Amino acid sequence: MRDNIILIGFMGCGKSSVGRALSQALSYRHLDTDLEIEKREGQRIKDIFSHKGEEYFRKAETSTITELNAGLSEAVVSTGGGLPLRPENADILKKMGFVVYLRANEETIWERLKNDKTRPLLQKPSPRDEIRKLLDYRQPLYELAAHMALDVDGKSIEEIVVEITRNFGILRKRGAADEA
Ligand code: S3P
Repeated sequence: MRDNIILIGFMGCGKSSVGRALSQALSYRHLDTDLEIEKREGQRIKDIFSHKGEEYFRKAETSTITELNAGLSEAVVSTGGGLPLRPENADILKKMGFVVYLRANEETIWERLKNDKTRPLLQKPSPRDEIRKLLDYRQPLYELAAHMALDVDGKSIEEIVVEITRNFGILRKRGAADEA
């Protein structure tokens, strides 16, 4: 397995903040697909959605992850919540490295996102119902796309980082032993 860690999961599960802390703990670089897309497009995600539409954004996700994948090593990649849902993207992520699903329940997500104004998909009359609906549909797809699922409810960023680095370390040792 390549030496990158990819964080996937629903909006608000902590992919960006865990990604930053994890990259520091490992002395890896940190990449965030949403930030990469914003840099390339020169626009915030919510403006991309409103000016160019969701389909345009989804295509930008696929081209961004395809380009990032080339030659990437010693990196932690935080992904947008919808990115692993496309099978072609999920395939790329699995080849890129160790894919970890940060699994948050509806309550945790709602507490973190109830006042959010930046996620276009949640700017609806009933955002909590939207979260429930999207989560029901996406959960099995996140599980399929990941090598490991980690429950994050009630855990600190530090605790999550320790759990991921422990599992990543075991995998790498196993990989080294297989090669020997
Ligand atoms: C999305 C999640 C967002 C962002 C966009 C769409 C999604 O990223 O990519 O608003 O479809 O779940 P975060 O998961 O970082 O919030």
